Amino acid sequence: MSNHIEELDQLAIQVTRPVIEKTDLRAMTDAVRKELVGSYKGKRYMIRTYGCQMNAHDTEVMAGLLETMGYEPTHDETLADLILFNTCAVRENAENKVFGEVGRVRPLKHLNPELLIGVCGCMPQEKAVQEKIQKTYPWIDLAFGTHNLHRLPELIETARASQETVLEVWDKAQYILDDLPKARKDGIHAWVNIQYGCNKFCTYCIVPYTRGRERSRTLSSIVEEVKGLVDSGYKEITVLGQNVNDYGIDLGDADFSDLLRAVGGVDGVERVRFTTSNPWNFSDRVIAAIAETKTVCEHIHLPVQSGSNDVLRKMNRGYTREYYAKLVEKIRTAIPHVSLTTDLIVGFPTETEADFEQTLALVQEMSYDTAYTFIYSPRPGTPAARYEDPISAEIKKERLNRLMNLQNEISRMHNEKLLGHMVEVMIEGVSRTNEHVLAGRTRTNKIVLLDAPKELIHETVWVRIDGAQTWTLRGTIVSPQVITA
Ligand code: SAH
Ligand code: SF4
Ligand code: F3S
Repeated sequence: MSNHIEELDQLAIQVTRPVIEKTDLRAMTDAVRKELVGSYKGKRYMIRTYGCQMNAHDTEVMAGLLETMGYEPTHDETLADLILFNTCAVRENAENKVFGEVGRVRPLKHLNPELLIGVCGCMPQEKAVQEKIQKTYPWIDLAFGTHNLHRLPELIETARASQETVLEVWDKAQYILDDLPKARKDGIHAWVNIQYGCNKFCTYCIVPYTRGRERSRTLSSIVEEVKGLVDSGYKEITVLGQNVNDYGIDLGDADFSDLLRAVGGVDGVERVRFTTSNPWNFSDRVIAAIAETKTVCEHIHLPVQSGSNDVLRKMNRGYTREYYAKLVEKIRTAIPHVSLTTDLIVGFPTETEADFEQTLALVQEMSYDTAYTFIYSPRPGTPAARYEDPISAEIKKERLNRLMNLQNEISRMHNEKLLGHMVEVMIEGVSRTNEHVLAGRTRTNKIVLLDAPKELIHETVWVRIDGAQTWTLRGTIVSPQVITA
């Protein structure tokens, strides 16, 4: 697979070794990685993952790196020689949880003096977190940022030889790495990164600071990875980026619609999903590609955040409520039965009752299948964290409840409309709550629970829906034969 080296950037922090030319560093990192293959045989690792799919996929990459070193996964933290927390910085409560957990596992070092505890992902990209680790949690063995993930083998080596926290955080990506090993979880669904970073700078959001600027992978390397996945038995591919509609803008030779058609056209791919689509740059070409590519599923996650133009402007979302409604109308016309989901933030600084009511009205009007709802959390360093915010926590909580109640009603209504209908379900495994029940997904990303033999796991079948709740459907298999793509 191909790689390209980006412009040489400034290292933000490099406390473990003197500054080295980036090209040399890349070569050295690759060399150390090869040198360490198999040398940690018998050791066990555990990664705790927080945040979005991007982080979940980074965990697969780190697991791949560790497994080539010889590490084996364990679910039992008392057996682990390495515990890594792959963190999310998007809301404050996620951060507090991580520090709580890191403190909780510290005593395990008495059981196993060789145990290394590490913090990685989006949190260490924040200066305040770096300082907190050094001042308050000096016994953390290694901490590294999102751009340093590929250096994990080397950082582990350094941490074992060091008494102090090994901290390595770059503020920018040095190169795109698409040839790292990956230890993917199940055998049917795979995430594939198509783009890293974000250029949008919504005023509330920390992601552009933790993930850097938008960088697209080349179409050929993505398609090559997807072909390899299909050869290993994967049937469903979700392409990942913070802003998939911007895919390719930096490369200039293919856009997101080309990518959907190319990935969707790979022989053996049954389903293609994508996340996340910022409503900006959701072009007619992309709508047409979704509508015309059979394997691309009829589900669009289209975060709106607020129904008030005033709030949208203060959020720097780059669109109005009217633009968004028009876009949804075009999508619904071109893709009948599309399932539409969204993200919403309540209690953005200065959000008035009238602003909030516009969000409620928009939710009603858009009739989302589901929505992820959040109370605004100020993130240090983002513009919105400096805005005056006279709205009390109680009012914010009350708005969240009103919004959730409305959306739950709408979600249930959508699910009830499916009663008696036949849907195509790809069976993913057993239900999380009952191992005698199988669980799968419709093309529209709805979870369906089924009583069916375990031999049907990973197969795609026709199901009649005979039960509907807010979050899940129940169904009965109607076609004994399996659907093949
Ligand atoms: N790139 C995606 C969103 C990634 S973050 C997009 O723009 O659509 C996932 C969600 O977290 C966002 O859609 C937003 O609803 C929420 N979020 C981000 N920052 C937040 C903050 N400071 N407080 C509360 N919610 C936030
Ligand atoms: Fe954050 Fe906005 Fe980028 Fe999404 S588009 S990751 S919300 S800055
Ligand atoms: Fe969180 Fe980082 Fe994803 S901040 S939402 S894990 S990009």
